[in-house]
Amino acid sequence: MTVDHEFGGQHTEIKLSIVEGYLKAYTTALRPNFKHLWYIDAFAGTGSRTVRTDRRGADLVEEPVEEVVEHRRGSAQIALGVSPRFDFLMFVERNPNYASALRDLAAKHLQRSIVVAEDDANDALKRLVAANRWHDKRAVVFLDPYGMEVEWSTLEALASTQAIDVWFLFPLAGLYRQATRRLVDIDDAKRAALTRMFGSSTWEEELYPITGEADMFGGIPERRRELDPSGLEQYVQKRLSEVFAHVLKPLALPVDKHPQMFSLFLCISNRATGAIGLATRIGSHLLDPKRHIIIGPTMK
Ligand SMILES: C[S@@+](CC[C@H](N)C(=O)[O-])C[C@H]1O[C@@H](n2cnc3c(N)ncnc32)[C@H](O)[C@@H]1O
Repeated sequence: MTVDHEFGGQHTEIKLSIVEGYLKAYTTALRPNFKHLWYIDAFAGTGSRTVRTDRRGADLVEEPVEEVVEHRRGSAQIALGVSPRFDFLMFVERNPNYASALRDLAAKHLQRSIVVAEDDANDALKRLVAANRWHDKRAVVFLDPYGMEVEWSTLEALASTQAIDVWFLFPLAGLYRQATRRLVDIDDAKRAALTRMFGSSTWEEELYPITGEADMFGGIPERRRELDPSGLEQYVQKRLSEVFAHVLKPLALPVDKHPQMFSLFLCISNRATGAIGLATRIGSHLLDPKRHIIIGPTMK
């Protein structure tokens, strides 16, 4: 049975082509030196994605629009197709129907070593990190959430391995919606979500600096976030760089329209100069905005 999973748009194509490019270059470069190359997809979906495209007939404007429905490869299928192969793949998915579709996908590849975890991504990743020794392994983790689900403690766990490269589609729109312009507008739920995402409450001073002095009546000056989305992106990069050995300048997505919704980051945990150099060479080429010019029909 096909489980429909519709998500994303042009930026999804770009994101997946970048991750695919990295996975291919990664196993090619590391295969000679490592027997244990792992791929971990922490927000794995179903393995495929349903794409609806509007196409017009030859009669141009007056023709009715025809809708074409296609099933394309999602990140899990892409990783399975990478050559040289990953030795072990783990697909984590919280939605039971999607996890079931992933188990069907795994059943088509019985000769491969695949685990499907129907679980929360943060819990599954922290358990995976704690349960393994990492000196003889190298892994790529793909964090592709819908929103602000990734906890800081999960990023710290991944970075602590010094063996994992993390592709992280950071939800910039989620951040600027939660981190409202005025600090007083942030309710308890938003405050808790931001603290979980950044690992502590230091974001309050950093994003909402105390400026000016109390007025003559003792009134406290309003605390405002002055950073725009690109300033917030730089803030996120700075914070990630405190945990990871190196974080590349991200690609702003979508590339063809505003407002920016996501930042696609590559975070490198290995502190060895050679490892950082290799990942940076491959990653910065893939993340170069000039490579991603959009041509073609509009996806819904
Ligand atoms: C954008 S989709 C991932 C698409 C996938 N990377 C692909 O290319 O096919 C995000 C997925 O994360 C799942 N999800 C959301 N929160 C989760 C969580 N806390 N733990 C695990 N999965 C989660 C959703 O059910 C959804 O399938």
